[in-house]
Amino acid sequence: MSTTESTPTHVAIVMDGNGRWARARGLPRAAGHRQGAEALRRTIVGAGELGIRYLTLFGFSSENWNRPSGEVQDLMGLLRHYLRSEIADLHAKGARLRVIGDRGRFDPDIVALIANAEDLTRGNDRLNLTLAISYGGRDEIITAVRTLSADAAAGRIDPQAIDASAFADRLFTADLPDPDVVIRTSGEKRLSNFLLWQSAYAELVFVDKYWPDFGKADLEDAVHEFKRRERRYGAVG
Ligand code: FPP
Repeated sequence: MSTTESTPTHVAIVMDGNGRWARARGLPRAAGHRQGAEALRRTIVGAGELGIRYLTLFGFSSENWNRPSGEVQDLMGLLRHYLRSEIADLHAKGARLRVIGDRGRFDPDIVALIANAEDLTRGNDRLNLTLAISYGGRDEIITAVRTLSADAAAGRIDPQAIDASAFADRLFTADLPDPDVVIRTSGEKRLSNFLLWQSAYAELVFVDKYWPDFGKADLEDAVHEFKRRERRYGAVG
């Protein structure tokens, strides 16, 4: 059996289980999110050490806006804090930050912090860190379809010329490779609207730990699992 020998280029993670981590300790959900932010820092450092070039993390889905407003504010507060306190360090380490998702619902100061962080780190390429926030895969696909249809209706493109590559170019992830591995923590086995198009051939790795307990060793385990698996892209092995 042929197996992938190399480290995955792009690892994407659904960070799940902050609330259950907190509940298991009799703590408020906010405490789980704070520990989740620590796990995020550890994982970014670990990814750099393991030679992973692209790391994409699902931090807040389009549906998460429906959570109680206090929890949404806690998460936005963590995001604000993260963008203010971590970007200089990420930049110094040669990391590029991108944020994918619908920015229309963020407070204006968060929109500005994201734009500043993206501008500052645009020239970096050692680690490409992408935070999916206010992100939904179906919304992303619908938006791409709309822009392609508008271009076709206006005669700017020939509908027959629309192929997978032209479509992928209209997604938030246009300049990212597809993920090789998608990891989900907390034992749940779903994609939950994360990178639906991009994950077509990704290896899925489910980890039983809650996200706040995740760290470099777990990332390394997932990389080993990826290397063990045979990837055939629909062909014969
Ligand atoms: C899933 O756990 C986690 C989230 C919805 C938020 C992820 C946020 C962080 C890791 C903190 C850092 C955040 C940013 C934006 C930088 P859950 O709350 O769905 O847990 P549950 O399923 O156990 O209730």
